[in-house]
Amino acid sequence: MKKSALNILLFVFGAAIISSCGNGSSSNNANNSALGSSDVASKVYVEPGEHDKFYAVISGGFSGQLSFYGLPSGRLFRVVPVFSQDAEKAYGYNEETKPMLNTSHGFIPWDDAHHPELSQTDGVPDGRWAFINGNNTPRVARVDLTTFETTEILEIPNSGGNHSSPFTTENTEYIVAGTRFSVPFPQADVSIDSYKENFKGALTFVKADAPGEMDVAFQIIVPGYDYDLAHSGKGKSHGWTFFTSYNTEQAKTLKEVYASQNDKDFIAAVNWKKAEEYIAAGNYTEMDANYAHNYYDEYTHMATSTMKKTVKVLNPADCPELMYYLPCPKSPHGVDVDPTGSYIIGAGKLSADITVHSFDKMIEAINNQSFETEIDGIPVLKFDEVLAGSVSSGGLGPLHTEFDDKGNAYTTFFISSEVVKWKVGTWEVVDRVPCYYSVGHLMIPGGDSKKPWGKYLVAMNKITKDRYLPTGPELTHSAQLYDISGEKMQLLLDFPTVGEPHYAQGIAADVVKPNSKKIYSLAENAHPHAAKSEDEARIERNGNEVHVYMTMIRSHFAPDNIEGIKAGDKVYFHVTNLEQDWDTPHGFSVMGANNSELLIMPGQTETLLWEPKQVGIYPFYCTDFCSALHQEMQGYIRVSPAGSSVEMTWSLGE
Ligand code: CUA
Repeated sequence: MKKSALNILLFVFGAAIISSCGNGSSSNNANNSALGSSDVASKVYVEPGEHDKFYAVISGGFSGQLSFYGLPSGRLFRVVPVFSQDAEKAYGYNEETKPMLNTSHGFIPWDDAHHPELSQTDGVPDGRWAFINGNNTPRVARVDLTTFETTEILEIPNSGGNHSSPFTTENTEYIVAGTRFSVPFPQADVSIDSYKENFKGALTFVKADAPGEMDVAFQIIVPGYDYDLAHSGKGKSHGWTFFTSYNTEQAKTLKEVYASQNDKDFIAAVNWKKAEEYIAAGNYTEMDANYAHNYYDEYTHMATSTMKKTVKVLNPADCPELMYYLPCPKSPHGVDVDPTGSYIIGAGKLSADITVHSFDKMIEAINNQSFETEIDGIPVLKFDEVLAGSVSSGGLGPLHTEFDDKGNAYTTFFISSEVVKWKVGTWEVVDRVPCYYSVGHLMIPGGDSKKPWGKYLVAMNKITKDRYLPTGPELTHSAQLYDISGEKMQLLLDFPTVGEPHYAQGIAADVVKPNSKKIYSLAENAHPHAAKSEDEARIERNGNEVHVYMTMIRSHFAPDNIEGIKAGDKVYFHVTNLEQDWDTPHGFSVMGANNSELLIMPGQTETLLWEPKQVGIYPFYCTDFCSALHQEMQGYIRVSPAGSSVEMTWSLGE
């Protein structure tokens, strides 16, 4: 019975894809002519020299980075590398940032970034930081919104795929990390057939409110399901975090069938304030672990990586009132909490309806000890007793919900490829618009917070077919911007994105813009290898290790003639940009460098490791167009044979 229902859904899914993409040009023209008014164009037009009203902080998905766009223009401003090396900025290539990509598995130059999440104060995005999760080798990262640099990465132990992450609590007390793939906890060499016996889930709470001190506050060991998404309570439900789960069947193979058998899976409701009490009372197990904490210091301009060795673990069986399961139909994907904190929306991705749970009813049921059953010490609440209502959407495959500032909710439907607008409280559908095509997440600025700005909605689509000029088999990914200020949603703009726009957050530009840094102070540069003036430029040899303390200012390096380097040397160029004006970066590269170039901001020091293998004269030059004499910003290095007696000399000018 269940299986045949699934087959029907899969059939409809296939048909939806075919109908939405197959005859693209005709449906497209109809759509475009409906849009073709100057009114729509003026709504996204930002005059040259003017600024956008919002930042959109969009995940790069499998590119492992985070990108900043303007709304409503859809213009791309900056790509911030997080979990992946980036040659444009030397992130993960220069010596300073390599430690950012260290893990218990060694140096990992890639990850699959999924969900950006802005820091909040009192439930409102505050513009301090953006967090994002690494899905593959479980990690969370902090991006500082004054420098737009990745400044901290924490590996998550005892997890196998960090998907339900990094969703924040109301004051950024914690960001969370729930394991998508259950694995042995702790890891162990066991048969995969022993899934039900040995595989567990981990729900991790990461302390996130102090830069440099990100740490696993505690982990909760839970049944071996797949934990998919999360959101924390707000207002009255502050103190709780909700995680969706699927695969309560605990299948370990062909999950598309075997993990879709149960009529209902669960939303895990975690009382994290109760968890804090248990931790404070010492009612936890300290377990051995091995996970990396990497921190980039904006004054030393360097990252350090530290391995952490233990983690505090809570077992629900030993911790009454720590967590509960709310039954939720049909393999729920997104779980979203409305701005008042009263409703918890579970989107069963194999369902047509959206299930809304009531926080008040949940508390009442808990107080009445009204439980269906208990699993591994976790009470399961009765579905009918916690249900607030359900939205008969008329769509198929609900995934994610965000909110506006007028009491409306907007849910994406992957299979029927649309956004459905409905009223929180009455559950009535009031509008729907198609997406091109197969929408996953959506974003409304502030739309998962207590105070949505509303105004715009960005749909992040999985399929782009026929929306742009073709570029071979691989097409750009696509986001679509809608105006949601009126009764009816209005499509304004398609814009391409870098990588996969997996999820996004949006924030009013005014909250972030005034704090954006223009330079790094040279006086405050605490890099151990900085040369803060040309007088400090020098070269030091220690065996075959050579340290070049170099400076750069428009339009020369100091020194720019170097002799005495030998083939086989390890040469560290520590290059300091002496400029103290906004927008005056310089670059550095030397022939034969086999890692990357450097891109150095005013007042910053970066290091390139160069290992010349062949004798000869090597030019080096500035890679960033910096002045009318940028082409003159260059120098020479002489590389002599190993064992040569050429003296180490360096100079600038005659
Ligand atoms: Cu400095 Cu170009």
